[in-house]
Amino acid sequence: MDKPERTHILDVLTEHIANDTTADAGGIMRAPMSDFTCPLLLEQECEVFFRNTPLCMGLSSELPKPNTYWSDNASGTPILMVRDSTGKFRAFANVCRHRGSLVVPEGRGAKVRFTCPFHAWTYGIDGRLQSVNKSSHFGDVSSLGLHLIELPSAELYGTLWVRPTLGDPIEESECLAGLDRDLAHWKFSEYPFAGTQVIDARMNWKIGVDSYGEIYHLNVLHTETLDKEVVGNAQTFDSFGKNLRMVIANEKINLMRLLMPIRDKWPYKQITYTVYFFYPNVLMMVDAFGVDFLRIFPLDNTPSKSRTIHAWYIDPNVQKYFTDNESAYAERLKRFRDVVENEDYSIAEDIQVNAELGVQSDIVLGRNEIALQHFHNVHRSGLGRDLLPVEHT
Ligand code: FES
Ligand SMILES: [Fe+2]
Repeated sequence: MDKPERTHILDVLTEHIANDTTADAGGIMRAPMSDFTCPLLLEQECEVFFRNTPLCMGLSSELPKPNTYWSDNASGTPILMVRDSTGKFRAFANVCRHRGSLVVPEGRGAKVRFTCPFHAWTYGIDGRLQSVNKSSHFGDVSSLGLHLIELPSAELYGTLWVRPTLGDPIEESECLAGLDRDLAHWKFSEYPFAGTQVIDARMNWKIGVDSYGEIYHLNVLHTETLDKEVVGNAQTFDSFGKNLRMVIANEKINLMRLLMPIRDKWPYKQITYTVYFFYPNVLMMVDAFGVDFLRIFPLDNTPSKSRTIHAWYIDPNVQKYFTDNESAYAERLKRFRDVVENEDYSIAEDIQVNAELGVQSDIVLGRNEIALQHFHNVHRSGLGRDLLPVEHT
């Protein structure tokens, strides 16, 4: 994202604020509500999206230095990610080659070897089987190549990607689809990991994604919270293949409009929230404090439950404030959780119940909800379904 592009984004936002509009063109779209309840669809989603598509797992600082690991089961496949002793990011199926136990419990840390809790086979940080407990009793397996199974992985401009099944290497163009310039601009590899939390909800995972993709609800649902800081009813939208970017404005933009006529001098990061959707299930929100990174997955093999894993990475420019204030990290995470859980997901759980009641067949996505229209159609195209038409009413 170069300077002219940032200025263009600010021009569009200013225009929308001045005219109280969110979108310039487009139409409405109707999407079937049964997509939130169908168990067969969930099976397809798990197979196509959560096993066979590269997933953006987080930012590089999840693995801050050589010989660190991060074990994560959220996608449904237990994945052991490491930064090996040479500094390379790698991923393995976290499944013991002996009898299939989980080798490393979920979590992160620094280690050079991993010992399976069942019979103590030990693997190196490079996934190689280093030793078999009491091998003289067990039998010699050294010629069988029983190393942890390596999964396709890539580290792209400070983001970590893994495909949970074996196959071809991950292609950068498949993952980023033109967002490489944005990621290079942000320098996410310099953002330290600040904390993570899990938010479970009784809603389909796609209703979770929908919660973050429009600003239309901001002045209605979030009157006591975000409404004080975020400008409602103004956003930009750009698609990058199956991904998307939307930018919304912080209230401070109104000060800039009053005080500084030259827009390319405006402090972009201080007055905007840049939201990315990375296909198939990740949202990333960049502001002056850092990056809120959300992965949303189905939970418990049912269409009616989902798990949101929220990770927060801090902007290095404000890190000192947070490290000097001991409770600041926890407060920031709690504040995020309170808004999402008490406001967005509370509504989302009602939507799930209503979808299950089957009272109506469709939801309607407005032209000011264009990011949701995009999401619903890339979801469909990923599964080989017909695209939903944009209707000009
Ligand atoms: S299952 Fe891992 S050592 Fe036996
Ligand atoms: Fe919201």
